[in-house]
Amino acid sequence: MGRVIVVTSGKGGVGKTTSTANLGTALALLDNSVVAVDADVGLRNLDIVMGLESRVVYTSMDVIEKQCELKKALVKDRRVDGLMVLPASQKNNKDDIQPEQMKAICDKLRTMNDFVLVDSPAGIERGFRNASAGADEAIVVTTPDVSAIRDADRIIGLLQNAEIEPINLIINRFSPQLVGNGSMMDQADVLDILNIDLIGVVPEDSGVITSTNRGIPLVYEEGSPSAQAYMRIARRLTGQRIPIPNLENKGLFSNLVNWFTKKR
Ligand SMILES: Nc1ncnc2c1ncn2[C@@H]1O[C@H](COP(=O)(O)OP(=O)(O)OP(=O)(O)O)[C@@H](O)[C@H]1O
Ligand SMILES: [Mg+2]
Repeated sequence: MGRVIVVTSGKGGVGKTTSTANLGTALALLDNSVVAVDADVGLRNLDIVMGLESRVVYTSMDVIEKQCELKKALVKDRRVDGLMVLPASQKNNKDDIQPEQMKAICDKLRTMNDFVLVDSPAGIERGFRNASAGADEAIVVTTPDVSAIRDADRIIGLLQNAEIEPINLIINRFSPQLVGNGSMMDQADVLDILNIDLIGVVPEDSGVITSTNRGIPLVYEEGSPSAQAYMRIARRLTGQRIPIPNLENKGLFSNLVNWFTKKR
């Protein structure tokens, strides 16, 4: 049985879809079978970020309405074996889907795949409830700013109430320069507030925007620090013990701290 992981945040625009696309691709590159589910009904964009929009025919709504088989709605990513996307409907809204229906889809997908990553919409309402309904684990994405962290804290409480665990944290858009001049919180500050396990830190990187616009997930660019960050997160998800580099140090990646000691 595969693992169902919801990628969520509370606050909008912090990098959930970017993280889902890159982790999905990275896990497939590591020989896992993966389905990335777009749960942002009405505002789907996972297909665009993954460059698959022109091949979307059916959506999860069609599956729920029994207009097509689940397998038929999956869009295969031709760049890597074992990666598929289940698109969300654009013309429906979040209230048109019930959490139990999303759970049924995730339960079916997990029988056929190693990982089911669910890209959640922002917010704590129905869209979040739908996205998390079938999940047994969560990745919370936050940027190192107070409003994103406060929303992440709220989401973590909701995930804990729903007994979803483990809950792992990605700090995205981290800028060593801003931390260095005192304008951005450091990793330790964020972890002090949120008190969950850190699974990775992704640097601020203009390459993310370029890759989004080109529809090619960044992880294909091996030299990019954020691609490497996502590859390391994918390896940690599969149980490998990979240290989290201290991005705050000017000698990026040379000073390895915060050894990843999670038990799985
Ligand atoms: N590490 C990064 N460096 C620079 N830009 C980034 C980074 N991560 C994400 N972005 C940019 O931030 C914007 C929002 O990212 P994304 O769509 O992944 O967020 P989201 O949490 O899914 O948003 P929403 O809540 O609207 O679904 C995009 O323009 C993306 O290119
Ligand atoms: Mg998104």
